[in-house]
Amino acid sequence: MKREQFSSSLGFILAAAGSAVGIGNLVAFPVMASKNGGAAFLIIYAFFVFFICLPVMLAEMSLGRHTRQNPLGAYTEIGQNRAWRTVGWLSVITPFMIGVFYLVITVWIAGYLGKAIMGQLDQLADPDGFGLFINSDELFIYMALVVGLTFLILQGGVKKGIEKATTVLMPTLFVMLIALVIYVLTLDNAMLGVKFFLVPDFSKITGQVLNGALAQAFFSLSLAMGILITYGSYIQKNNNIVSAGKMVAALSLLVACCSGLLILPAAFSFNPDIEITELSESSIGMIFMFLPKIFLALQADIGYFGASFIASFFFLLVFFAAMTSLVSIIEVPVASIMDGKGLSRRKALYSLGAAMVVLAVISALSFGRVDMLSGITSYGADATGQPIVKSFFDLIYDMFYETILPLNGLLLCLFVIYRWKKQNLDAEMSQGNASFAGSFLQKYVNFSLGTFIPVILAIIFINTVSTIYFGYNMLTVFFEQIGFN
Ligand code: PHE
Repeated sequence: MKREQFSSSLGFILAAAGSAVGIGNLVAFPVMASKNGGAAFLIIYAFFVFFICLPVMLAEMSLGRHTRQNPLGAYTEIGQNRAWRTVGWLSVITPFMIGVFYLVITVWIAGYLGKAIMGQLDQLADPDGFGLFINSDELFIYMALVVGLTFLILQGGVKKGIEKATTVLMPTLFVMLIALVIYVLTLDNAMLGVKFFLVPDFSKITGQVLNGALAQAFFSLSLAMGILITYGSYIQKNNNIVSAGKMVAALSLLVACCSGLLILPAAFSFNPDIEITELSESSIGMIFMFLPKIFLALQADIGYFGASFIASFFFLLVFFAAMTSLVSIIEVPVASIMDGKGLSRRKALYSLGAAMVVLAVISALSFGRVDMLSGITSYGADATGQPIVKSFFDLIYDMFYETILPLNGLLLCLFVIYRWKKQNLDAEMSQGNASFAGSFLQKYVNFSLGTFIPVILAIIFINTVSTIYFGYNMLTVFFEQIGFN
């Protein structure tokens, strides 16, 4: 059977941007930027996006288009040995497991969207509201809806499913985001937030912040999850991979900036004296606990319907962003099963979906509902040296998102440069891009992927393992030693 393709470069760009733009850009980025020096963080983040993430992104897309395979197939075909095949497996299991955790969060967003539409802002803003909701039975209704919608999109295939959905959702998302930024900027005291976001404070930049910024940029561009290999395998040969990659990186960065211009001004207009620590505990806290308070407070100005409308608008925007990311991550194992086992899309979706739903339900029960799942294990060390109790959800997050993601990135760089070889990567990137050969970018991509990028990823990987599982943050200790903290 002939492999499906995106109908155009734009179709691919929107699908890949749909994957990249997600909860990471819309919520985690503003939280991190506000904690860590505003524009100083932004500058460093942008630097990482273009100088470290973009080469990895181009490598993934090229590998996909060259092999016309899912990650497992790509590693197997070019790797030609057991070890690389194992890496291939890792690049399929990782998106599957991150998909489980992303599904759970998307379900929460769907729930908040539903409640905002039903005008239940007071429930959302209640300090116990979030805890009650994630442990409610209602949650499973939303889970069924999200799973159903994801199936519907993926069932349509590459052109009629993924591409069609993203070409509708992404432009809508951009317009909604801009509209919301404009609205928020008209609120009282909004400019305090803009100032806070745009005035750089370089004194906040520590080794830990650098590490966090890179990890965030990596996640946010959907790297090392096999997504861009899979989507890359659907790009036409005459499309320009390099300009598409730049476009996706730029769009993702732009959305992150807009989101900063949305969330910080909203926070300051809600409370001009706000303490930044208060709004930036975590991104989950921000979206599910802090923002609802702002929406509720809006009622005093624009009434019950107005405030419910703005809240629904916001959660719909985040929901679109989350759905397009969720679809992309589930497509990876789906494509692997279709390619590897020759199953139809529908069969692949059913078997995978069933496994995923089981794991998502287990995760959803691990927030206090089922004791055994809520404290499934403990490891690492908290401030007092005690091991930290972990839920099933934490475990997936720590293992796959924190630990295996940088490892996958590292292995990918090594694979592309030393196994597949530079000249093959170059040849693929030059297809549909006649002026690429000999350009600065070509040399930079080759050099960086073969040298410092894998070294940086290796350091992040080792440091993550020692921090999470052994409670010893090597990077912090190192930066303290050299007087940079
Ligand atoms: N880029 C996504 C984000 O910023 C991350 C992601 C993509 C997560 C795809 C899962 C699947 O939220």
